[in-house]
Amino acid sequence: MTGDEFWMARALELAARGVGTVEPNPAVGAVVLNAAGVFAGEGWHQRYGGPHAEVFALAAAGASARGGTLYVTLEPCCHHGQTPPCTDAVLASGVARVVAAMADPFPRVNGGGLAILRNAGIAVDVGVLEPQARALNAAYLKLLGTGRPWVIAKWAMTLDGKLATRTGDSKWVSNAECRARVHELRGLVDAVVVGRGTVVADDPLLTARPPGPRTPARVVICGSGDLPAACQLTATARDSPVVVYTAAANAGKLSAWADAGAEVVGLPSSDNALSPLAVLDDLGRRRFTRVLVEGGAKLLGSLHDAGAIDEAWVFVAPKLFGGAHAPGPVGGRGVGTVAESRPPASTHVEQVGDNVLVRSVFTAS
Ligand SMILES: NC(=O)c1ccc[n+]([C@@H]2O[C@H](COP(=O)([O-])OP(=O)(O)OC[C@H]3O[C@@H](n4cnc5c(N)ncnc54)[C@H](OP(=O)(O)O)[C@@H]3O)[C@@H](O)[C@H]2O)c1
Repeated sequence: MTGDEFWMARALELAARGVGTVEPNPAVGAVVLNAAGVFAGEGWHQRYGGPHAEVFALAAAGASARGGTLYVTLEPCCHHGQTPPCTDAVLASGVARVVAAMADPFPRVNGGGLAILRNAGIAVDVGVLEPQARALNAAYLKLLGTGRPWVIAKWAMTLDGKLATRTGDSKWVSNAECRARVHELRGLVDAVVVGRGTVVADDPLLTARPPGPRTPARVVICGSGDLPAACQLTATARDSPVVVYTAAANAGKLSAWADAGAEVVGLPSSDNALSPLAVLDDLGRRRFTRVLVEGGAKLLGSLHDAGAIDEAWVFVAPKLFGGAHAPGPVGGRGVGTVAESRPPASTHVEQVGDNVLVRSVFTAS
């Protein structure tokens, strides 16, 4: 590892602290060395609308930044957004060199920040640990590039790949520690999404308990509009947002949900089937950066068939349910051959008590 990579790795570590609190902004970290190459300060973008990483790091370094180096995981911004341009702070600090992991494709930056620094005579290097920086901000980059949020599919299954027993009993497949991890994740995403079948079977609340930094919208996909009027989601729709996507022709069936405070969105459909991409387009218009889809199998199958699962969090519990008709996690049409299945860009495996959590990212960033 070179010196540049060492400090950029630290900046990436700092940046990761902002995931879940900064969206729809990118997570960014920064480290400042003095002119002698000695650590002088560090910082990270901590919350949406708050100061950017460079500003924190340069403030921490103070006068010792003069003639030094700024490591930053994303190109410094050059526009007035929620905060003044970071390029102003970089120029004022007197650093002699800026090392950025990657340029920022945000239209109002897009190389402009780096150009301002170069034109001011600062040495600028770009691309140190770029793959790691892109992976860290994969959701930000996807929303910018496609207008759609990053989709995390989550399920808990037995060793034999079952979500529930043949009678539908599914409480609980995974252990308490895993369920706590799911609540933690809910508090870091913009929406928790389920299909009608899961609302009918489980009457879920879909909130993060305890609450996290974000309050996710609770989203139900229900082409038919046939949802029970009385359930936990309608009872709490005025406490935290509930959005239902349904076929436009069936939106009227959900008047009780609308009266309870839920937002009912009608979309074009074919035989009540909605395009998962159209749903994601609408979520992206709300600037939702990461959404968590918790099932069931039909909804996950419809997303999988549309190639819309970016990442999977799979909890595997040491249980065997058996049963030819006991449900598996992902329905839909599925792929025809092994070769058609998408290879993961990365996979991380973790033991959680006697369960295992496998996290695979399918969309390369
Ligand atoms: N172990 C776990 O991690 C886990 C997690 C979640 C759920 N579950 C279990 O899974 C079971 C429910 O799964 P499920 O497969 O029956 O139901 P589901 O996927 O929750 O819901 C299926 C329904 O969602 C709607 N839907 C899904 N995709 C759609 C699309 N593209 N367009 C329009 N509507 C769409 C349809 O509603 P309409 O019919 O109204 O059109 C469809 O019938 C429950 O037993 C639940 O307990 C287990």
